[in-house]
Amino acid sequence: MTVDSETTGSITVLGASGSLRAASSNTGLVRLAARLAPDDMVFVEAPRLDVLPFYDADLDTPDALPTAVAEWRARVEAADALWLAVPEYNWGPSAVMKNAIDWLTRPLGSHTLRGKVLSLVTSGGGGGGTRVQAQLGEILALLGNTMVTDPQVAIANGAQYLRADGTCDDPAVAEMVAERLLAVRNAVLATR
Ligand SMILES: Cc1cc2nc3c(=O)[nH]c(=O)nc-3n(C[C@H](O)[C@H](O)[C@H](O)COP(=O)(O)O)c2cc1C
Repeated sequence: MTVDSETTGSITVLGASGSLRAASSNTGLVRLAARLAPDDMVFVEAPRLDVLPFYDADLDTPDALPTAVAEWRARVEAADALWLAVPEYNWGPSAVMKNAIDWLTRPLGSHTLRGKVLSLVTSGGGGGGTRVQAQLGEILALLGNTMVTDPQVAIANGAQYLRADGTCDDPAVAEMVAERLLAVRNAVLATR
C-alpha cells in the first residue's frame, strides 16, 4: 500500500555501518543512501558502533545502562526505519553489528526493534554478502519488525568502487540503493 506522504509527515531513517575501517564500502552504502534519500526522508547516520560495549545483562539495568547504549536505543526509537549496512565476515555479520542488534533486542517483549522497518544492505567479497543477508534476515525476522528485501542490495567486491563518503563509480549500484530507499519509504508509510 502506498500512502500520500503529505498527509503522513516525514520519514526518519537511521543508517548504521557494520564496518569500522575508514575506507569502508559499507559506510559508503550508508552515505550513498543519505545522498539519495527522497525529499520526505530524513536520513541520519549513527555513530560508529564500537562506542557500544559488548552486551552484558549486568549493564542492562536502569542504573547501570551505559550512556552510549541509551543513546543508541533512543536513536533507534526515534527512527521509523533502520538502514543496516553489513560486511560479511566468515559468512556472518561483523561482531560490532551483531552486538549493536543484541542491545536492541532487550528487554524482551518491549524491545526497540519491534515495529521498525529494517533494510539490510551488504557490500562483501565476491558473494556480495548474500550469506550474511540470509543469516541476519532470519534473526531479524523473529523480532516483530518488517524486513524490506527488494531489490536486493548485495554488492560484490564493493570496496573496489564504493567509497566511504558515499560516492560510487557504478551507477547501477546507486540506482539499486535509490530503489531500495523508495521501498523503505513505502513500507514505513504502509505501517501508519
Ligand atoms: C575477517 C574477514 C572475513 C571475511 N569473510 C568474508 C566472507 O565470508 N564472505 C565475503 O563475501 N567476504 C568476506 N570478507 C570480505 C569483506 O566482506 C569485504 O572486504 C568487505 O568489503 C568489507 O566491508 P567494508 O568495505 O565495509 O570494510 C571478509 C573480510 C574479513 C576482514
